[in-house]
Amino acid sequence: MNNSSASLVFSPAFTWGVATSAYQIEGGAAADGRGPSIWDTFTHTPGKVIDGSTGDVACDHYHRYAEDVDIIASLAVDSYRFSISWSRVQPLGYGAWNEAGFDFYSNLLGKLEEKNIKAHITLYHWDLPQGLQDKGGWLNRETTLRFAEYAAEVARRFGKRVATIATHNEPWCTANLGYGNAQFAPGVADTVQALQVSHHLLLSHGLAMQAMRAVNSPARLGIVLNQWPATPATDSAEDIAAAEWEYARSVQWFMDPIFKGRYPQKALDRMDMAQFQVHPEDMQIIRQPLDFLGVNYYFRAFVSTENPPRQPEGKLGFSDMGWEIYPSGLTDLLLQLKAEYPDLPAVYITENGMAVADQIVDGKINDQARINYVQWHLEAVQAAIAGGVNVQGYFYWSLLDNFEWNSGYEKRFGLVHVDYATQKRTLKESAYWYRNFIRSQTAA
Ligand code: NOJ
Repeated sequence: MNNSSASLVFSPAFTWGVATSAYQIEGGAAADGRGPSIWDTFTHTPGKVIDGSTGDVACDHYHRYAEDVDIIASLAVDSYRFSISWSRVQPLGYGAWNEAGFDFYSNLLGKLEEKNIKAHITLYHWDLPQGLQDKGGWLNRETTLRFAEYAAEVARRFGKRVATIATHNEPWCTANLGYGNAQFAPGVADTVQALQVSHHLLLSHGLAMQAMRAVNSPARLGIVLNQWPATPATDSAEDIAAAEWEYARSVQWFMDPIFKGRYPQKALDRMDMAQFQVHPEDMQIIRQPLDFLGVNYYFRAFVSTENPPRQPEGKLGFSDMGWEIYPSGLTDLLLQLKAEYPDLPAVYITENGMAVADQIVDGKINDQARINYVQWHLEAVQAAIAGGVNVQGYFYWSLLDNFEWNSGYEKRFGLVHVDYATQKRTLKESAYWYRNFIRSQTAA
């Protein structure tokens, strides 16, 4: 690992960005006709979030978006990735659109255009309108049709003003944390339901892609998946087989239907697929050509079948989330994707970032650990590019400290510190580092 960023050189066309999502930063939960989402319901249920917090106010971005875009512009990035709150623009998830909700995003896009920052939007970053949950949510096949209608409407209105539109963010989490182990909204623990939900998410992705293509959106269309390579803890046959299975049920579970039109062979071999409903036409609907794939990378899966399981040694340490810092996993993953999927489109690293227990000392936040983290992961991206992977951009997660789901506000991922009592934003040392780094790349 290098200690300086001097050896890092990216193409002048490379996209540099920062990322956020609606529920994590917006607040304005009941403002201007927004309907509740499953995350409003979940956070208002005692015991679901570690510190009992909610996204009611969050970073108050709904009211401070102009100031926040000024901050984004000051970082020298050319792109901003954010999500649309579905229940802000369609309060129930079906029926009437909420013009005031669309106005908010139109104003945000206007401010980004003023600053020459490209918008990369996500349609679904986990906040299903409660109105749809009341009709069965993602377990109900009808929700996939509602999602396609919503996607078409956003593409029709904003397709010309945004660079990319992603259908889903990390559907693995929606299915497995929302329905598999109840850590996320709607808080169900049932693995069969999680499978059905994952299928409906994939189907809704395919239907939304078709619906957006039908309105001739000029934006590049794709999906954002969280992915990890799986390393066996030892070279025992058990660990190797378990690591292969882990990779199949996480990465390939979503990639194979999208790029090959079928669920991974390993899953077909060992699972009772009759447990959930897949209509014969579904797989062709899911297999839509993508303009880009968004990859969110934080850590590898370290797979041990021993009891207690072996833990990764974490040579480079662990983040405040307890996640192992393992940059070369990103190179491994990207090379593996390229080898396995000949149709792999352009890749954006749509998220990568580190939670640190940051503290303000004399007005400064010296987060050298985060700077190292970003630098190491950019080296990993560069190695993948050298290996032939068409990576076109990198978005740091996140612009701001924000609502980290069931971890509440305790975990800070931002380049910019937020004092939640005053909503004051303070740039961390990593923000200055990122800005200087991007300037050094684009000045050439
Ligand atoms: C993935 C999610 O997309 C984002 O919402 C979350 O805050 C980060 N990872 C960090 O956990």
